[in-house]
Amino acid sequence: MLGYQLTDGCACEDSDLTLTTPHPDDDPQGEPAVWRSLIELAATEAERWPQRAAGLALATSNDFVDLYLPLSRPVTERARVLGHLGQSIDGYIAAASGDSSFVNDQENIRHLHRLRALHDAVIVGAGTVAADDPRLTTRRVPGPSPVRVVLDPNRRLSESFQVFRDGAARTILVVAGDSDAAERHGDAGVLFVPATDSLFDLRALVNRLAGLGLRRLFVEGGGMTVTRFFEAGLLDRLQIAVAPMFIGRGRPGIRIPAQASITDCPRPPNRVFAMGQDILFDCDLSGRDAATADKPANRSATATIASGANATPSVPESPIKRIR
Ligand SMILES: NC(=O)c1ccc[n+]([C@@H]2O[C@H](COP(=O)([O-])OP(=O)(O)OC[C@H]3O[C@@H](n4cnc5c(N)ncnc54)[C@H](OP(=O)(O)O)[C@@H]3O)[C@@H](O)[C@H]2O)c1
Repeated sequence: MLGYQLTDGCACEDSDLTLTTPHPDDDPQGEPAVWRSLIELAATEAERWPQRAAGLALATSNDFVDLYLPLSRPVTERARVLGHLGQSIDGYIAAASGDSSFVNDQENIRHLHRLRALHDAVIVGAGTVAADDPRLTTRRVPGPSPVRVVLDPNRRLSESFQVFRDGAARTILVVAGDSDAAERHGDAGVLFVPATDSLFDLRALVNRLAGLGLRRLFVEGGGMTVTRFFEAGLLDRLQIAVAPMFIGRGRPGIRIPAQASITDCPRPPNRVFAMGQDILFDCDLSGRDAATADKPANRSATATIASGANATPSVPESPIKRIR
């Protein structure tokens, strides 16, 4: 069991699915059945997870499991943070107007909903809420909606945005300050986090969220927000989904300080997946696993289990394919 209430009377249409009951039409090797197993795995106690994960990997070897199984691992000590951005070939996540519907393939949109379902909290910046008025729930896949966390240091967002009033999941508005006051912003609770020049101490934020039982954190955007987590060295994984399109001088994705030479530029271990029309780069920024980084001949322990000799063949029709 997760250590907190994920949803407050979640209104999303998929929330009532009983994940333990197989659908009669499901192919047990097919995506719907495998996804339900992954969701159950994500809610498994840490002690039982390795055995259950190995069982799933052996029973169902395919690129879909390879992608999501590591993210279903429970986190008991420090938080684990994943960032994701969908961008054009020329590195933009939205047009200059803020329009980003849709940069990426529908399969990537489903991927975003799966990431939400596998995380305790989804974090977005005030710019994303202002531009998109997103709901940040798991409407496109079965699974729990995460707690929604909005970074708005100066409390500039009105209470009229959906996340503050739709009741579809718990929402936390993060504002600059060091107060413990129990304030509300629409339906959302307000969390005060120290900031300097309106920039949050993100490590303090991550620790505060972990203290609330929110340890699997998904930073969904936009570019400024993911960049800040990257700069603070807080991202364990960064996924960039590149769509075969050009936006041209729009809102940028990751922006980090210039490096003196190309040899100084970070080249994190990575896995690459075809995802519908897009290419997903799944970068390991944890540093801890560098020696056993995912490479074609040296996959992570979980992936090795997933491609074990006793495993059943890959599901041919899946729109997610590991390239390397
Ligand atoms: N393609 C994608 O993957 C994707 C995903 C999400 C959003 N989007 C698009 O991206 C655009 C928004 O992205 P964006 O980069 O302009 O903005 P953003 O990252 O959504 O929001 C940035 C704002 O959030 C607050 N914030 C974020 N991190 C903070 C920190 N560490 N400390 C203090 N405040 C922090 C600040 O608010 P203040 O400005 O109030 O200081 C900051 O200006 C929208 O057009 C949206 O449609 C695309």
